[in-house]
Amino acid sequence: MSHTPVAIIGAGPAGLTLSHLLHRHGVESVILESRSRADVEETVRAGVLEQGTMRLMRETGVGERMDREADIDDAIEISIDGRRTRIGLTELTGHHMAVYPQHEYLKDFIAKRLEDGGAIHFETTVDDVTGYDGDEVTVTYTDASGAQQTLTCDYVVAGDGSKSPYRTPVLELDGAVRDRHEYPYAWFGILVNAPQTQKELIYGTHDNGFALISTRTPTVQRYYLQCNPEDTVEQWSDERIWSELHTRVDSEDLQVSEGEIFDKAVLRFRSAVTDPMQRGRLFLAGDAAHTVPPTGAKGLNLAVADVAVLAPGLVRAVKKGNRDLLDEYSALAVPRIWKAQHFSYWMSSMLHSVPGDPHFQTRRRIAELESVLSTEAGRTYLAQQYVGLDLPRFEI
Ligand code: DHB
Repeated sequence: MSHTPVAIIGAGPAGLTLSHLLHRHGVESVILESRSRADVEETVRAGVLEQGTMRLMRETGVGERMDREADIDDAIEISIDGRRTRIGLTELTGHHMAVYPQHEYLKDFIAKRLEDGGAIHFETTVDDVTGYDGDEVTVTYTDASGAQQTLTCDYVVAGDGSKSPYRTPVLELDGAVRDRHEYPYAWFGILVNAPQTQKELIYGTHDNGFALISTRTPTVQRYYLQCNPEDTVEQWSDERIWSELHTRVDSEDLQVSEGEIFDKAVLRFRSAVTDPMQRGRLFLAGDAAHTVPPTGAKGLNLAVADVAVLAPGLVRAVKKGNRDLLDEYSALAVPRIWKAQHFSYWMSSMLHSVPGDPHFQTRRRIAELESVLSTEAGRTYLAQQYVGLDLPRFEI
């Protein structure tokens, strides 16, 4: 039986960032992760870092490789039937954004936690969490060798993703809600060995549907195509993928670069918000509490925003016995989650064609997008939301 001030379930963006921030303020934690380190470090996910996330990485000593290797951009482009409009992020907001895949972010935080002596137990399944309504939490788990272990802690944080079982006790509270939305489309994502199509990301809309041109490295590109949520990988031959990408994005001065496709996957579109995100000594962070659709890549950044509130709250509680900020965690985190939810929904709805939509809706949707792109106020609003709001900062 061992004890830690904070037990963290899940070595994803929420759990690792939290553990790192706690350590910087002298609060130790133990991370329990069901997957192997290799699995965590290799799973393909989205790849945009908001300015606040980039800043947090730099200010807390984890930003060096990101600054060296990420594709740091000062603009994105939005294309309507191949006609592209540049959104100058830096010119409009003073900030950049970085295309840096989530698994690279995780690699940097895992390396830093281990270098700082942090405890991350991979291939460990949590069997039970009890006592969060009382004075001490007990976490029982099965470690990588199959042995049963017990960990007691002052606080437990579930950062174990959208299927987290720890939402259930939170939703049992009076007045607790989980708001959900399903979208009538999905993305087909590919990784391809090819040169960059162009430096900036392109978000394209077309009668055939949405397409996104993103990047991973100078020789590996990440492309997405709107597809049907029921589609399978088998329905998307290489020929069909290239034909759709060229149709949806190409123009006289730009052609999507082709190469060998080595990964194909369908990504579901869902929105969900859990409120509150806490019960007693149990806290939810990241996807365990909320899900955003992929457009705009807010998922990782929202997890970071959650822990920017949760970390100082936990530090004050553990070091000073003061729960004021911790008790306000949900009230402080949820408004930002709804703003990100709105932005992801808004971008998605402007850029995707809904199968079977009346012609009126299609024309109105394109007019909305054109109104945003053709006014400085519209471009500025989009740019500010895209690079992200500043992260909250609290005195410890
Ligand atoms: C990526 C994913 C996104 O959802 C997005 O909006 C931009 C880029 C990506 O995976 O590169």
